[in-house]
Amino acid sequence: MLRKIAILTNGGDAPGLNAVIRAIVKVAEKNNVEAYGFIEGYKGLLENNYIKLDSNGNAAGLLHRGGTIIGASNSTNVFNFPEKDENGQVVYKDLSNKCMDNLKALGIDCLFTLGGDGTQKSARDFSVKGLNVIGIPKTIDNDVAYTDVTFGFNTAVEVATEALDRLHTTAASHHRVMVLEVMGRYAGWIALESAIAGGADVCLIPEIPYDMEKVVAKINERQKMGKGFSIVVVSEGAKPKDGSITVKRTLDDGKGVDNVRLGGIGEKVAMDIENMTGMATRNTTLGYVQRGGSPIPYDRILSTKFGSKAMELALEGKFNVLVTYNNGHLSCASLEDVVGMNKEIGAASGSTAETNIRKIEKDNEELTIARNIGICFGD
Ligand code: F6P
Repeated sequence: MLRKIAILTNGGDAPGLNAVIRAIVKVAEKNNVEAYGFIEGYKGLLENNYIKLDSNGNAAGLLHRGGTIIGASNSTNVFNFPEKDENGQVVYKDLSNKCMDNLKALGIDCLFTLGGDGTQKSARDFSVKGLNVIGIPKTIDNDVAYTDVTFGFNTAVEVATEALDRLHTTAASHHRVMVLEVMGRYAGWIALESAIAGGADVCLIPEIPYDMEKVVAKINERQKMGKGFSIVVVSEGAKPKDGSITVKRTLDDGKGVDNVRLGGIGEKVAMDIENMTGMATRNTTLGYVQRGGSPIPYDRILSTKFGSKAMELALEGKFNVLVTYNNGHLSCASLEDVVGMNKEIGAASGSTAETNIRKIEKDNEELTIARNIGICFGD
């Protein structure tokens, strides 16, 4: 019998988080289940910082609202938490039992974890400790395994596409090459879909290390055909063949979560293009506008579906799963399967392992279509 559930939103925010919270709370209340929200993800769980959610009060008017009303944190790994010892040295401790005690004291029957790969890895680890958990796949990067789509992704693609439309007119007016750096971490989904939707000429993604000669050949070919401008989309995790990913900053000694901050490849690609073609080239890094603000209708609907399905699963007593959406149908996959992929290579619990994510496969339909219509991937 389900009496109390709790929600946490962890990792970087994504449009649709509040819409998921709203759906969970509505379905919970309809079934006489109390809903709580832990503040700032796993941090709130550790600090026992929570609020009661009420669809007529603090959880009202959420459908269109960006961000998350219960806050998010992407630097708390309770299974590997940095604390100073008596000598002032940072030591990493497993504080998950403290979280379990907090959940027990509040009487939580099921925890909903709204997050990406790292969040779901910690969720799996909690399920191993006996907690009932249901994960909901959130990330603009669309890189969670076992689901075709995560909420927030389509809004990010819309923002990137609008940016490309705007870059097109200025590129054409000035006969320039315009580079747009988009997010996505180690997967190129935002780049690929916005390149198709925005009519880009070149698209560089992490899954296909690029050869600058090929990129330049494409731009020169357009020049010869009298098209005096080119549009290049670069995913933040793209890398040259025989080169490496461009890291803006590494935040700690590698034991924390999401410690690698990507960024800067757009600027590098723009400089290379300018040097190699002689064409005026400019870079725009789109940044956090991709994940801020209101979700588009697609994401409002998907978030509502995810939230409602998650509560349904909880009411049926089906725990330790991730809600999924494949071929237009809601379902679920075991958390163990989702985060256990390539376990042996994966980094510490809670961190974003490059190997645990859904990347673009070589035979991906959209990739093939993009190639068919002449988009160059630098290979
Ligand atoms: O995972 C979502 C995401 O927005 C990535 O696309 C990006 O690399 C990262 O988060 C940035 O995260 P942070 O909030 O740590 O800067």
